Amino acid sequence: MALADFIEQLDKLAASATAAFDAAGETAALEEARVEFLGAKKGQFKAVQKKMGSVEPGERPQAGKRLNEVKMQIEQAFVAAQERLGSQGTGGQKGGQKGPAKQFDATLPGSCLRWGHLHPITQTIEELKGIMGRLGFSVADGPEIEDERHNFEALNIPLEHPARDPLDNFYLPVVGAGGGALLLRSQTSTVQIRVMENTPPPIRIISLGRVYRPDTPDPTHYPMFHQMEGLLIDNRVTMADLKSVLRMFATSYLGSDVHIRFRPSFFPFTEPSVEADFSWNDQWIEFGGAGMVDPNVLQEVGYDPEQVTGFAFGLGIERLCMRRHNITDIRYLYKNDVRFLHQF
Ligand code: DAH
Repeated sequence: MALADFIEQLDKLAASATAAFDAAGETAALEEARVEFLGAKKGQFKAVQKKMGSVEPGERPQAGKRLNEVKMQIEQAFVAAQERLGSQGTGGQKGGQKGPAKQFDATLPGSCLRWGHLHPITQTIEELKGIMGRLGFSVADGPEIEDERHNFEALNIPLEHPARDPLDNFYLPVVGAGGGALLLRSQTSTVQIRVMENTPPPIRIISLGRVYRPDTPDPTHYPMFHQMEGLLIDNRVTMADLKSVLRMFATSYLGSDVHIRFRPSFFPFTEPSVEADFSWNDQWIEFGGAGMVDPNVLQEVGYDPEQVTGFAFGLGIERLCMRRHNITDIRYLYKNDVRFLHQF
């Protein structure tokens, strides 16, 4: 195709497109004209553009230049028509504009950011720290990756104890600094040992954190959960002190109508050992284990069991949180579904 013919077609196109846009009396008619001339597939501009391939190669740069000029001219005519009809919000894009044009209303309220908040378990941990802090307990921290001495031996759990079965624990494929095995701690009782090793009595601490057990997830089990460990060591500490502290804790956390009950139990690191139940809304619920620290444990960390005694307890934090908020399935806490978490 000769360059002159090509340019003539372009000029005609520009004239008829501009005329059509100018003539459009409403948004729907303008949209129709836009499709007719600027439509991406069947628009007239597209049709002429395709013919550029048949222009002599030497003349193509000139053809292309004119093509771009005409394109701009048509687009400008379209934008001008849009503005004349009061169309809004296309920002120079073509298309999608149907129905009555919307005006921007600067007085409408803006869309708000949705603030996040702490996870319900973190909220519970903060609250438990507050309650126990008022009872004089300070917070101690311990590692989640432990050696066997702190997770078992020093807690009076000998090698032949079933809790030592590697299949029952998350052992890591690396060894510790001293060459011993490492595992994810299965209880926060490890922190009792770490604190007593480094601090002379008296001691009054809690430790809150994650523990790991190879449990299959179900409504009340999860392979990772949180415990609050408590330890009090002093002269002449008795079970009466243990019961008072746990009752004060339970009434602070759940309300004044809470009762507490001890059932005999066994833990290698306490003697005697109990399960602690709280009664709330006419139901007894087990919240964890407790007892008087076993003399073997005191000796292991270099304390004299003739001089000091103490109590310890370990409570499940998920249980406390779920009871408070009426959450019926522990798995909800760890699905990270904000529709669920947002409620707390
Ligand atoms: N460590 C125990 C467990 O995970 C709970 C526990 C029981 C902790 C008795 C204690 C305790 O401190 O005295 O099942």
